[in-house]
Amino acid sequence: MLKKFQEALDKRKETGILRTLKPKSAGIDFYSNDYLGLARSQEFHQLLLKQIQENPGLLYGSSGSRLISGNSSTVTETENYIAEQHQYPAALLFCSGYNANLALFSTLPDRHDTVIVDEHIHRSVHDACRMSHAKKIKFRHNDPEDLESILKKHPGQCYIAIESLYSMDGDFAPVREIAALAKKYNAALIVDEAHYFGVFGYGLIEKYQLQHDVFAAVITYGKALGAHGACILCNETVKSYLVNFSSPFIYTTAAQDFLWIAIKSGYQFLKLKPELSKKLHQNFFSEH
Ligand SMILES: Cc1ncc(COP(=O)(O)O)c(C=O)c1O
Repeated sequence: MLKKFQEALDKRKETGILRTLKPKSAGIDFYSNDYLGLARSQEFHQLLLKQIQENPGLLYGSSGSRLISGNSSTVTETENYIAEQHQYPAALLFCSGYNANLALFSTLPDRHDTVIVDEHIHRSVHDACRMSHAKKIKFRHNDPEDLESILKKHPGQCYIAIESLYSMDGDFAPVREIAALAKKYNAALIVDEAHYFGVFGYGLIEKYQLQHDVFAAVITYGKALGAHGACILCNETVKSYLVNFSSPFIYTTAAQDFLWIAIKSGYQFLKLKPELSKKLHQNFFSEH
């Protein structure tokens, strides 16, 4: 068995694509997802430190899954706050964006459904589709015409998975056109706002006020917010369905309250510091 693993590793090494874990590089950061510098912001850290000093209980371990002993008023209040901020009826927090996507796409579609994904969609969605047993079809990147041709051929329940901003090429999704198609074909549109959130306000959905047309959204907090974790924005029925049936939500220990407080404080910090994203845009446009 080990021989098989070693052969695969050797093959990677030969072609120069062997992955290894390296220490953080020193120097100017052109490679992380810490788009606004919050992960290293002294000012933000001081704010969090003050909250811990005032309430050391934030550092307690959650002690279990949220369905057993791991739920707290802090996580519930943070979810309510996030839902209100994004103008969605409900929000459900997760320890990572990977887990949030895994929860959505492994739980909502069943074996009779079709998940139509942009060909550049994040790996977590592909992994989730394997868990769901739904049929998965890729459409050409950012191409609503190709998407429509697939929707026409699949009259059953379809889910459409896109990102609002694709990190590899830095291009935006034609979200209004895709939302119109979702409506026309009664498909459920799910938008991952991982790279858009914080850099351009709360997201493309907020920008175009598409809350009623986008079935669910994923917001992640490991990028512009410099923290960790993610939430799914959806309606109350979908939230309750995930809480009842989603393995990546149920069978895992909840994070410490500190994470939920860091996320809520991150939203408040971004509101106080609009200059952070303005500076990023200036840097970008002076380079292009
Ligand atoms: C589009 C997208 N969705 C989800 C994720 C996963 O988020 P997290 O890093 O919080 O697990 C990433 C992370 O790279 C991402 O780029």
